[in-house]
Amino acid sequence: MKGKIKKIKFLSIILCSLVAVFLVVFISIIHSKNAADAKARAQNKKLILGFSQIGSESAWRTRNTESIFEAAAENDIQILFDDAQQKQENQLKAIRSFIVYQVDVIAFVPIVEDGWDNVLQEAKDAGIPVIVVDRKIKANQSMYAGFIGENGVEEGRRAARYLVNKCRNTEGPVNIFEIAGTENSSIVDDRASGFREIINTDSKFRIIHSENGDFLRSRGREIGDMLLASNVLENGNTTNTIYYNKQKIDVIFSHNDSMTLGFLDSMEAHKINPKGYGTIIISIDAEQESIDALIAGKLNCVVECNPNHGQMLMALVKQVAKGESIPRITYNFETVFTEDDNFDKYDPRGY
Ligand code: AHR
Repeated sequence: MKGKIKKIKFLSIILCSLVAVFLVVFISIIHSKNAADAKARAQNKKLILGFSQIGSESAWRTRNTESIFEAAAENDIQILFDDAQQKQENQLKAIRSFIVYQVDVIAFVPIVEDGWDNVLQEAKDAGIPVIVVDRKIKANQSMYAGFIGENGVEEGRRAARYLVNKCRNTEGPVNIFEIAGTENSSIVDDRASGFREIINTDSKFRIIHSENGDFLRSRGREIGDMLLASNVLENGNTTNTIYYNKQKIDVIFSHNDSMTLGFLDSMEAHKINPKGYGTIIISIDAEQESIDALIAGKLNCVVECNPNHGQMLMALVKQVAKGESIPRITYNFETVFTEDDNFDKYDPRGY
């Protein structure tokens, strides 16, 4: 009898052990399956990019936004978008809301260079990488992953190189009236410094005045109206030579096409024929409308500023989301269009 009981006890111990082993194996299979599923979910998760754009002040800017949306869709990246309506305070609010939302990456076009330190620290504390787009910032490099955009200094140099070559046989002085864009923006500082670096190699070039046109067509028109009012004579006829403070203007250097086109609108309203009246007009961006004006002989040179940042930005977004580092600076490809070009070979600009 005792032997029988022992046998039953022994069998129950074996059975319990088998059940325990089975449970341990079963639970660990379930656990590792869950872990694998979670990893796969994290890998396949749609990236979310918080993007703060400064506004829609120009056709260039509209194309810049479109390019980023198109590329995000092609790369299956979801965008949380904010239009700052030209105000830094709106950009700061938007970036803070992206942090609260815990987006994977933040990208923003800084309207001005300064004032980003606190919000960048907040993004850093939240572990969200930040990419600066189009315009640069004055901040410690450790506060953001990198910059993607145009080389503003080189754009300014290109505009000036065209001018130096164009005026190579002119004795001088060559008086330049500058129409600049948004104050305290890196792009204006860069274009202005690149332009000055080249023209300062010859003392015949003089910038007689620099006026802020805020990158807006309406401001270009206002500046034109201010300069050209005295070109309409009492008898209704117009004179073609443009003056600022009694000094003849030989060159208009405008920091973007919107302001240049506004200036041309004013010339048309004042019945001043832009062809052959002697003022050289140089612009930046290369929107279709300004290329058309170049072809029509109303402009002399248009330096391209390429707004198509989308694909390059998305490649960088994917890299930083994986924790990889990216180059400090990524520049877009850009060229120059002048009155001497053969325009048959150019594709439509797309903006
Ligand atoms: O920052 C780029 C500049 O901003 C473009 O030249 C201009 O058109 C835009 O508004």
